[in-house]
Amino acid sequence: MTGGANGIGRALSLRFAKEGAKFIAVSDVDEANGKAVADEIEKDRAGFFPCDVSQEAQVNNLVESVNRAAGQVDIFCSNAGIAVAGGPVHAEHRVLPDQLGQDGPAAIAARRVHGDGLLDWVGLGRQGLEARIVDILKTFPDWHMEILEIADAGDVVVVRCKVSGTHLGVGTMSMNNMPPGSQPTGKRFEVTHMHWHKLRDGVIVEHYANRDDLGMLRQLGLVPPDTQK
Ligand SMILES: NC(=O)c1ccc[n+]([C@@H]2O[C@H](COP(=O)([O-])OP(=O)(O)OC[C@H]3O[C@@H](n4cnc5c(N)ncnc54)[C@H](O)[C@@H]3O)[C@@H](O)[C@H]2O)c1
Repeated sequence: MTGGANGIGRALSLRFAKEGAKFIAVSDVDEANGKAVADEIEKDRAGFFPCDVSQEAQVNNLVESVNRAAGQVDIFCSNAGIAVAGGPVHAEHRVLPDQLGQDGPAAIAARRVHGDGLLDWVGLGRQGLEARIVDILKTFPDWHMEILEIADAGDVVVVRCKVSGTHLGVGTMSMNNMPPGSQPTGKRFEVTHMHWHKLRDGVIVEHYANRDDLGMLRQLGLVPPDTQK
């Protein structure tokens, strides 16, 4: 349990113990509270393992240490993290740029769409979709999608949202009509989007969007302002 010293990670560790887990490896950068959580659990059924999850070598070492101490890891609960109020990205769930990677939210978001449906339909592989999300977050580190309204009609879910971000990085893919390679303008935009999703078995199989891309490009200064008022 990374981030097991406090909050949700602490609660999960204690609950797994209560539900009969053989061994709980409580891991965190906060050694004092992490040890305290391990001590709360029955002796020999928990231990504290220091690890800073932003350091890949430490994560590898964590897995090896736990394997040595307690046998193979059955469940790796990647909970450690920091909450950023109001962003960077907030859709159904929040995505933190520093949590990107194979098991980061971009990968998780990509796994939510149906392999045989949406991905084929838009011509993106699962990895392609993940790469696109990563590219957006590198271009706009504070990318934020605030859901204003959701309409649910059976297998169709329509979302009206306010989308904003500050243009601080260079995108390598075409995104919302912004040409790849555009130099960072440092400007912030805020526009609205409508997203229409068709679901099957709980995953998205079709997606249509109406986005104010022109508004975004104008606010970023990449398209001249509308002078014909
Ligand atoms: N609380 C919420 O409402 C909420 C909502 C959505 C997502 N989350 C996410 O759930 C996770 C846990 O949230 P929480 O409310 O329990 O937070 P918390 O701050 O109470 O606990 C987070 C724990 O992670 C540890 N941690 C932080 N950076 C670390 C690092 N680099 N390496 C190892 N440990 C590290 C901290 O020391 C702390 O013990 C976070 O990723 C948070 O962003 C929380």
